[in-house]
Amino acid sequence: EINFFFPKEHTLAVIKPDTAEEHREEILGEIQSKSFTITRLHEMVLSREVAEEFYKEHRDKPFFSQLVDYMCRGPCTMMILTKENAVEEWRAMMGPTDPSKAREKAPESVRARFAKDILENTVHGSSSAKHAQEKIHFIFGDISSESEVISTGEDNG
Ligand code: PPS
Repeated sequence: EINFFFPKEHTLAVIKPDTAEEHREEILGEIQSKSFTITRLHEMVLSREVAEEFYKEHRDKPFFSQLVDYMCRGPCTMMILTKENAVEEWRAMMGPTDPSKAREKAPESVRARFAKDILENTVHGSSSAKHAQEKIHFIFGDISSESEVISTGEDNG
């Protein structure tokens, strides 16, 4: 039998403020049951400055200040999730941005089950490998010494 080694990928995942403790635990359990490695986990309250920088791509959107307010309201669980195809798989687990759409299209998804509305939508995930790299660096600094980092596409074991 031939063994294929697929490069592992990182994504930045966030459990947003106000997510009930039991939902937080359930989400973490599901992440582990889907064989993601939680390479880093850090609970932190974002300052306005950090939240604004984190969401800078959305600076001109009408909901920007609401989104920043929400993200600063309480502790966020910031994580680096690592797995083959992590970016796409975590986005699939999250479901669509708007929970009413999520309930229609992806009823098993985290947002379908736990999100309140399009603003308070429980979780965040990087939209691309490039964004993931940038946001991970912004939140966690340089993690290149860690064995799981395979942004180059090579398999470090
Ligand atoms: S985009 O343009 O496709 O990247 O937009 P999207 O991924 O749908 O949304 C980007 C983030 O903005 C949040 N969002 C909103 N917040 C409040 N109100 C409205 N109407 C709204 N639409 C989108 C959305 O939850 C995304 O946040 P993250 O944390 O990235 O999921």
